[in-house]
Amino acid sequence: MNETRIHNDSPRMTPPRRLWDFPTRAFHWSLVILIGWEWASSHLGGNGMTYHMWGGYAVLALIIFRVLWGFIGSTTAKFSSFLASPKTTWRYLTTLRTPRHDAAVGHNPLGGWAVIAFLLALAIQTGTGLFATDDILSAGPLNPLVSNRTADFLTLVHKVSFDVLLGLIAAHVIAIALHKILGGKNLLTPMITGRTRAAASGLSKAPLTFARPWVSFIALCLSAAITWAIVKA
Ligand code: HEM
Ligand code: HEM
Repeated sequence: MNETRIHNDSPRMTPPRRLWDFPTRAFHWSLVILIGWEWASSHLGGNGMTYHMWGGYAVLALIIFRVLWGFIGSTTAKFSSFLASPKTTWRYLTTLRTPRHDAAVGHNPLGGWAVIAFLLALAIQTGTGLFATDDILSAGPLNPLVSNRTADFLTLVHKVSFDVLLGLIAAHVIAIALHKILGGKNLLTPMITGRTRAAASGLSKAPLTFARPWVSFIALCLSAAITWAIVKA
C-alpha cells in the first residue's frame, strides 16, 4: 500500500467500512446536546434548575455507560484499543508532521487521552453538581449530606470545572479542524455515519469486532440504575 495515501480519505481510496458503533456515536451526540442544555438551563431561571438537574442525571448516566462500554463495547470503543503509553503518545506528538503519523483506525494516542480527560472533567462536573446549591431555591440531591461550607466549595468547583470543560471542548473542536485542514483527514463524518474510507495500515488492518445491540441496551439500563442509586443515596 502506498503509505502517503493514508492521509487522503477521498472516496476513491477504499470502500467504506464500519469504524464507530451506534452506541458510541449516540453517546457522543447526546453528550453534545446535553452539555448545551446544561449551560442553557443553568441560566433559564424559573424551573430551569429542575431541568438542569435532570439533564445532569442524564450526563451522569452517559458517563457511566461510556466507562462500561470502554470494557465491553466494540473494538474502537474499548479503552484497551486506544489508551497508549506516555512514550507512544509522545512519539505520536513528535511525528505529527510526518505522512504516517495518523494511520491508526479509531482514536489516535492523543485522542485516546482526550476521551479520559473528558470523562474525568464530566465526572467532576456532575459529581459536584449533586452537592451544589444556588443558596436560594435549588440544591443537588446530595447537598443535605454535606456541611454548608463544603457545599459552597463544591458549588465553586462546579462553576470552575465548567470553564475547564469549555476549554477542553474548544481544544477538541480545533484539533478536529486541524486534522482536516493540515492532515486532510476527515474525522467528523465517521462520528456521524459510523463509517470511514480512510485506508488502514499495519495493526489497523486487524479485524474490528462490534458489540451486539442488546449488550449496549443492558449497559444503558445498568448505567441508569447506578445513576438512580447515586441520586437517591
Ligand atoms: C455535565 C453536567 C453539568 C453541567 C455542564 C453543569 C453546568 C452548570 C453551569 C454552567 C452552572 C452555572 C454556574 C454559574 O452560575 O456560573 C451550573 C449551576 C448549577 N448546577 Fe450544574 N451542571 C451540570 C450538572 C449538574 C448536576 C448533575 C446538578 C445536580 C443534580 C447540578 C446542579 C447545579 C446547581 C444547584 C447550580 C446552581 C449553582 C449556583 O447558582 O450557584 N448541575 N451548572
Ligand atoms: C459538548 C461538546 C463535546 C464533547 C463533550 C465531546 C466529547 C467527545 C468525546 C468524549 C469523544 C470520544 C468518543 C468516544 O470514544 O466515546 C469525542 C470524539 C469526537 N468528537 Fe466530540 N465532543 C464535543 C463536541 C464535538 C463537536 C462540536 C464536534 C464536531 C466538530 C465533535 C467531533 C468529534 C469527533 C469527530 C470525534 C472522533 C475523534 C476521533 O476520530 O478520534 N465533538 N468527542
